[in-house]
Amino acid sequence: MATESEIRKLLEKVRDPELDRSIVELGMVRGLQVDKDRVSFTLALTSLSHPFKDRIVENAKSAVQSAAGIREVDIFLDEMAPEEKASLQKEDGLKGEAEKLNNVKHVIAIMSGKGGVGKSLVTGLLAASLRRLGHRVGVLDADITGPSIPKMFLPANARLDFSPKAMLPAKTRTGIAVISVNLLLESEDQAVIWRGPLISNVIRQFWSDVLWGDLDYLMVDLPPGTSDASLTVLQSLPMSGVVLVTSPQNLAAMVVRKAAQMVRHVEIPILGLVENMSYFVCPDTGNRHRIFGPSDPESMARQLHMPFLGCLPIDPQIASLCDQGKIEEYPGGLFDPLAQRIAQLAPPAGEPKMAKQAS
Ligand SMILES: Nc1ncnc2c1ncn2[C@@H]1O[C@H](COP(=O)(O)OP(=O)(O)O)[C@@H](O)[C@H]1O
Ligand SMILES: [Mg+2]
Repeated sequence: MATESEIRKLLEKVRDPELDRSIVELGMVRGLQVDKDRVSFTLALTSLSHPFKDRIVENAKSAVQSAAGIREVDIFLDEMAPEEKASLQKEDGLKGEAEKLNNVKHVIAIMSGKGGVGKSLVTGLLAASLRRLGHRVGVLDADITGPSIPKMFLPANARLDFSPKAMLPAKTRTGIAVISVNLLLESEDQAVIWRGPLISNVIRQFWSDVLWGDLDYLMVDLPPGTSDASLTVLQSLPMSGVVLVTSPQNLAAMVVRKAAQMVRHVEIPILGLVENMSYFVCPDTGNRHRIFGPSDPESMARQLHMPFLGCLPIDPQIASLCDQGKIEEYPGGLFDPLAQRIAQLAPPAGEPKMAKQAS
């Protein structure tokens, strides 16, 4: 039978990937007990919402199971006390080390020529669909002055957590990782009045200082239009492609053309065009009404040489679920096929177009 010190030796080989140190040396293994063929202990992690939690637990479990005669391993999870965590924190702040630990397969930005077309809503619903389809999904809210992603997914008091070297995304009820400036503010109503360069820095940090962990799809909600901040995202994140969102209104073609021009200028693939708020289905008669007038997004997409991905209706149920932080409860009938198509179109994450600037 294995002894306690033998088990401890085996656990010494298990490392916290973020801190790259042994979990025993870090003081994470507590109350270790060996009772014949049974081992139990508490694992005190830097955060219970740590993206590497499962990995550390599995590694610890298989390390213990490799001991002779051990049949059962019980691991209880706990979080380090704030003082313990602080002692592991770097004094000089976050230094972009999280980026090296992340493994994000596809980065897709959602863009529109102008505000209010439902870009954030499309971002949220696509993320919810991809999650439902079994992918590991994150949402980066790059709309720093008009952040609307947390409200769709999370309770108003949700905040980010920190590990010693990184910011940790908040997790939604279905397990989507979310980062937004709103999750850093004292109150969600607080205004962000920062100038362009500061905004660009925050967006870059949302990539380099956030421990996203392993993700299949990171959806990025861009600010409206072709602003500086949008350009920052397109150039400093390893983009797979961009989805353009429009609505059936005058001038739509002109603003979409401008947005497309910007994306092409930085040589990022355009995955296609989605038209939101195209029609309303009257609940009494089942008739379709084109509230914002007629439009022809299919031929617009053709003229702009991009795939047409689909039309979405105006649905009061979406707006109401969004207001309650329950966007993930919206049925996937329309969005799941759209998300699947976009997922198939998206190439693997590329290299960032612009070398990282010193900040
Ligand atoms: N298809 C839709 N059906 C119902 N409401 C919608 C729809 N698309 C957007 N909305 C609502 O319109 C408003 C603007 O949408 P939002 O996604 O915030 O736009 P953007 O991010 O482009 O500025 C939100 O209140 C949203 O809930
Ligand atoms: Mg928005």
